[in-house]
Amino acid sequence: MLRSRIIGTGSYVPEKVLTNRDLEGMVETSDEWISTRTGIRERRISAGETASGMAARAAKAALKAAGLSAKDIDLVVVGTVTAEMAFPSVACLIQAELGIKAGAAAFDVSAACSGFLYALDIADRYLRSGGAGKALVIGVDKFSNLIDWKDRSTCVLFGDGAGAAVLSAEKGSRGVLSCRIHSDGRHWDTLYCRASRPDNPFEKGNEQPYLVMNGNETFKIAVRTMGQAIKEVMEDTGLKPEDISLLIPHQANMRIINAARERLKLPEERVYTNLDRYGNTSAASIPIALDEAVRDGKVKDNDIILFVAFGGGLTWASAAVRW
Ligand code: ACO
Repeated sequence: MLRSRIIGTGSYVPEKVLTNRDLEGMVETSDEWISTRTGIRERRISAGETASGMAARAAKAALKAAGLSAKDIDLVVVGTVTAEMAFPSVACLIQAELGIKAGAAAFDVSAACSGFLYALDIADRYLRSGGAGKALVIGVDKFSNLIDWKDRSTCVLFGDGAGAAVLSAEKGSRGVLSCRIHSDGRHWDTLYCRASRPDNPFEKGNEQPYLVMNGNETFKIAVRTMGQAIKEVMEDTGLKPEDISLLIPHQANMRIINAARERLKLPEERVYTNLDRYGNTSAASIPIALDEAVRDGKVKDNDIILFVAFGGGLTWASAAVRW
């Protein structure tokens, strides 16, 4: 039986650090409010970098870690909602930038913060069915472009970045054990960003294309759906909480992460968090955290890693992987 094994990871965050103290000079907020309500202390902000530029850096690092060349890749799936162009996709731009062979398949997936797990699920299905041998799965977002920097209720939450994983179709027990993706479009207006052009003279009354969020509602739905998603992959695989070596949740809010951790009764050291340093990087949050955990030696062969995410759509997803 073929499985999709993650054989290399990479990530990239912009150099510019925006601290909570910096934000105190931009909107009516405080380091104390942001850190106690969210767990975030600073985030990275891209100055002039594109989503595809950040993603290409993460992808190159992942290929290097996998010991592969771009020519080995058959499939590129990118989770993003902040592509620098309406078309072509970030995936096609990466194909060109990295020199991935012509004739490979490359496309983007829109699932906001669940984007990386959506991309992983699609790639996993291609690999297991023999439709591709090696896949590059990327999560990248540049939310600094979507944010109203005068809105304190959202501008303190997000950051920019990219993360990537190389997957290989292999026989054996290691790899993706279960991956589940879900959505409920009825709640689309809990969290959204219009793509409209306010200067289009034929479209009167266009809203500014800024991120809009009902924070309290998002919070409640996130806690519920992440709990369901974790339960689902645990049931699929027969895993018990004590089997889980590391939970890597979407990094949106420390209180949401703690709710997921408590549900599994996991000790703190078995949950990876880095949102204090990067904030919510949307589709990039899980692959950046995974890459850091791998490079810090926190992931060993045959460890069971659980991923869980939620995001605009609304979307939610989970995966269990034997490393
Ligand atoms: N600084 C200071 N005060 C603030 C700030 C700020 N940055 N933002 C809001 N406030 C104020 C509000 O105005 C409100 O004041 P009031 O009581 O006088 O009206 C007060 O703080 C409390 O506001 P709440 O919204 O009730 O605060 P809450 O404790 O719920 O925390 C938060 C807000 C952090 C946004 C929380 O609801 C949350 O994390 N929600 C989930 C958000 C999330 O995960 N989003 C990402 C989704 S993933 C994706 O796909 C993009």
